[in-house]
Amino acid sequence: MAIQWFPGHMAKAQRQIREELQMIDVVLELVDARIPYASSNPQLQALLEDRPKIVLLNKADLADEAITEQWMAYHADEEQQALKINAKTGEGLSAVSKIAASLVAEQRRKAEAKGVRPRNLRALIMGIPNVGKSTLINRMANKRTTEVGDRPGVTKGQSWIKTSYGIDLLDTPGILWPKFENEAIGYRLAATGAIKEDVFDIADVALFVLQFCKKHLPHVLSERYRLAEIPEDDIALFDLIGQKRGCLVKGGYVDYEKTAGIILRDLRSGKLERVSLETPEDIS
Ligand code: G4P
Repeated sequence: MAIQWFPGHMAKAQRQIREELQMIDVVLELVDARIPYASSNPQLQALLEDRPKIVLLNKADLADEAITEQWMAYHADEEQQALKINAKTGEGLSAVSKIAASLVAEQRRKAEAKGVRPRNLRALIMGIPNVGKSTLINRMANKRTTEVGDRPGVTKGQSWIKTSYGIDLLDTPGILWPKFENEAIGYRLAATGAIKEDVFDIADVALFVLQFCKKHLPHVLSERYRLAEIPEDDIALFDLIGQKRGCLVKGGYVDYEKTAGIILRDLRSGKLERVSLETPEDIS
């Protein structure tokens, strides 16, 4: 289901998140390791109040490793706990419970001193659409099928999912709205699949990806599309890729939409190699 983030939806999501936060000890904010800033939520910090948060840089398998290390250093500088993970395989998740326990240790000591019996830690997984929340919940719960969906407002009658990580999860992930700060952020979100394709021009976004790769990772383009050289003109590059991939319409013209679809699919599935579209420098 496509989510349109109109002010009414955002207000509703905020209300829902506030309710959910009452029940949990720690928030696991899932961001896309390829765009950790663009995929983080601008207002989450204010909503959290004093709830501790761990940032999980998900889809680390698709991101450039060196840039992910820069983001880890960035979060360390900000004194923000962060982990790079792969929600599909569970890689990187083993440290979650240890970090979560350390974040609530003081609070737990106080509660125990008052005679409150210790229970499993309770966490809520939060993130913008398509960042991997359902995949992570299923992985942590060792489930194969998706029982949770992108449906804001379906949290009535919460139940807890036991995991093998010593953490119980709220059965519904918290859906956050994406940033709408500027055009560059919009393009990054669209390129990675965080924004549904019916709200942007797919050829524009594919052109953004081509321009980015041409500037930062030209070898990725030459290898994937077998280009002897990369044309200086972006449209000529687009045309060439379309021709190479046989995306032609009557008259021998390149089918832009089809070509754009291939470029975006290649990026999202990791066929363009590991590409990160954002570095900490971009936001300083
Ligand atoms: P959401 O609940 O936050 O909306 O996201 P969801 O779990 O549905 O995941 C969105 C897509 O991202 C899925 O791909 C999922 O497999 C993929 N994904 C999640 N985590 C990772 C990860 O760490 N690495 C990689 N490479 N992909 C990840 P899909 O194509 O929509 O579905 P599927 O074909 O994989 O089932």
